Amino acid sequence: MSKTIFITGTNSGFGKAMVELFQSKGWNVAATVRNKSKHLDLFYGMQNVKLYELDITDYEQVNVVANEVIADFKKIDVVVNNAAYCLMGPTETTTMEQIENQYKTNVFGLMAVTKSFIPHFREQKNGLFINFASSSARFNYPYVASYGGSKWAVRGISESLGIELKPYGIEVKTVYPGVHATNIFTKLDHGANGNDPVYVKNYKNYYANFLGAQSAVTMVTSPESVAYDVYKAAMNPNSGKLNIVSGGDAKLFEFMKKVLSERAFQKQLVNSIINPITSGGITMFKWILGKDIKPLLTDIPENLIR
Ligand SMILES: NC(=O)c1ccc[n+]([C@@H]2O[C@H](COP(=O)([O-])OP(=O)(O)OC[C@H]3O[C@@H](n4cnc5c(N)ncnc54)[C@H](OP(=O)(O)O)[C@@H]3O)[C@@H](O)[C@H]2O)c1
Repeated sequence: MSKTIFITGTNSGFGKAMVELFQSKGWNVAATVRNKSKHLDLFYGMQNVKLYELDITDYEQVNVVANEVIADFKKIDVVVNNAAYCLMGPTETTTMEQIENQYKTNVFGLMAVTKSFIPHFREQKNGLFINFASSSARFNYPYVASYGGSKWAVRGISESLGIELKPYGIEVKTVYPGVHATNIFTKLDHGANGNDPVYVKNYKNYYANFLGAQSAVTMVTSPESVAYDVYKAAMNPNSGKLNIVSGGDAKLFEFMKKVLSERAFQKQLVNSIINPITSGGITMFKWILGKDIKPLLTDIPENLIR
């Protein structure tokens, strides 16, 4: 019998790549988007994909959709908490509303989806949650204190639930991708404003170096490679591999954090904001990423950089 996977946030990036991969492998896929009318052709012709409308910050809707999916497919094998977005900018110039919203989606939304599927998994004594954290939850970058913080929260949630739910046959795995060619950098919530004198006087130079490094690296790893890592995890729910670090940059930084002293590791990242990225840095980054690359899509306002 075909297995069924539920995936949030599937109109772009990893979510879309996962739907395409799992359906091609014969899985039933229950896929969510925030607004179905905006994605009428999404997954067109893919018989084993069913699309649901879901904003994970609407907790009532989360319960309704989870019950609908369970009623439609009877047995759900895997739930992927993929949907999230990134708030980026200096913490001083970011509003508390932005910070709260970041946690509302990336942490509380993920918790709502998880809670709504636990009873089903518990009753069937089987099920796998795969939670998307980020390489920002293995070490963190500057200017993503809130985003990275939300992903460290996902890491902690996963670790705790993995123990708490184990007696019911439920597994929890966590994915930590490095920088990948999805749409996330075209939908950034900016915690910086190019017209704010505090930003311009105190942060613009350093933040421009940070963003400049991102835009200098024009090609990054394709989302399909992460989708494949998730597929391997879903096919081996009971393997002991609970944490999946995906992408050459994430693996390199993971290694550096292990071998360098805390101060030396921090110094590397401080240097990355004090000084613009060098051509040597770009070459090294390209070498780490290898051949499976796609253009990095970004939509950064000019007045944040120049
Ligand atoms: N790309 C990277 O470099 C990277 C690295 C590490 C971790 N990640 C993580 O990977 C996951 C997928 O992101 P992505 O890179 O594939 O970005 P993406 O292309 O922007 O996809 C994110 C998806 O989440 C959806 N989403 C956002 N807020 C939502 C909400 N409140 N309710 C329901 N859906 C919502 C988006 O819908 P809309 O289109 O409607 O906004 C979109 O479908 C995220 O958890 C992200 O933090 C990404």
